[in-house]
Amino acid sequence: MNNIKKSNILVCITGSIAAYKSVDLVRLFKKNGHEVQVVMTESAREFITPLTLQAISGHKVHQSLLDIDAELAMGHIELAKWADVIVIAPCSAETIARLSLGRANDLLGAIILASKAKKFIAPAMNTNMWSNPVTKKNIFYLSSNDMNLIGPAKGDQACGDVGYGRMSEPEEIYESVQVTLNQSLNGKKIIVTAGPTREQIDPVRFISNNSSGKMGFAMAEAAASSGAEVFLITGPVSLTCSDLIKRIDVKTANDMYEESLKLMHSADIFIGCAAVADFKSVEISHQKIKKSFENHFDIRLEKNIDIISSLAEQFPAKTFMGFCAETERVEEYAKEKLISKGLDLIVANDVSKSDIGFDSDFNEVNVYTKEEKKYFQKSTKSLLAIKLINLLGPDSQSIH
Ligand SMILES: Cc1cc2nc3c(=O)[nH]c(=O)nc-3n(C[C@H](O)[C@H](O)[C@H](O)COP(=O)(O)O)c2cc1C
Repeated sequence: MNNIKKSNILVCITGSIAAYKSVDLVRLFKKNGHEVQVVMTESAREFITPLTLQAISGHKVHQSLLDIDAELAMGHIELAKWADVIVIAPCSAETIARLSLGRANDLLGAIILASKAKKFIAPAMNTNMWSNPVTKKNIFYLSSNDMNLIGPAKGDQACGDVGYGRMSEPEEIYESVQVTLNQSLNGKKIIVTAGPTREQIDPVRFISNNSSGKMGFAMAEAAASSGAEVFLITGPVSLTCSDLIKRIDVKTANDMYEESLKLMHSADIFIGCAAVADFKSVEISHQKIKKSFENHFDIRLEKNIDIISSLAEQFPAKTFMGFCAETERVEEYAKEKLISKGLDLIVANDVSKSDIGFDSDFNEVNVYTKEEKKYFQKSTKSLLAIKLINLLGPDSQSIH
């Protein structure tokens, strides 16, 4: 990515074991040309020293609201106005609770209330703290009021528990902020399909697949963060998405096609991430099919519509990014599909690997165009989605 808009970034660090990762975050912002200042809460200073952050940021670290020298010039208001972007990373459960009440009893709280900057929080806490209904309520309130949520990630925790609550890695926080700053897809209308489709056999049984929808939802979030108007057409999944996204829930491949077609005339880009069922039952029984006394029961299947290739054929001037999940000869099948479906880019992943693909939070892919191949190493689906969305922007240096 080139053309990075340089910004004043205020990194706020709170009392979490993940505070040491903020050093890398500050370094990443600095390395990419941003001006960075740091605020630390009292608890944060028990985890990592202001001296370290001062050395990395090149500025005195701001620590106290009632600092007689800093407040000579109303320091907290100055900082609130100076910042284009505020990133609270790590953000503790305590700070989340304080912010959701609009408290201004410390420097961080006062700045957040006073600032019109773009705000991001990267929570970090024990998984039970994260899933506690009070934290959930606070986070819901903050994220529906101007705070962009980054993570948290799932994985091993310092306390030995495993689950959601780990702070997202600095690179992911950096990329999430950057993609929002760049707004490289501003003015574009993007359709993303996600999840499986469900093809009924009778009122209680259906044909479907293992797709969780995570990759498609991550693509939709990344596209929305880049400034695009995003329509997410999803099969049945248990995921939620941010208010930035216009979500349309469907069941069958046919419904997904119909909804896509309606929007396609005014769309610029179609991202086909859904695992669309290849076949559907020729007949759908209106009543539950009774268990037969025979040992076998035949269902006659017919091919479903190939949504992406049908749309690519009807709208050749638009950009199409497809995904393919293969269990063998991944490159060969991906290249074949790129051509046969009329795609501009295809993202191929090997779902025979259990640590990536369908229900995993991670993925590792290769992207193919007619001329190029680009490898994306294993990372969280949200970070990968940001990188894939960057391929569609005007600043993309390769692939497209
Ligand atoms: C070793 C240790 C690790 C902690 N890690 C976390 C954490 O990751 N997330 C969290 O929300 N609180 C954590 N806490 C508790 C917070 O430090 C505590 O709630 C503190 O009041 C937060 O203050 P602050 O939000 O003003 O920085 C930890 C406490 C200790 C002693």
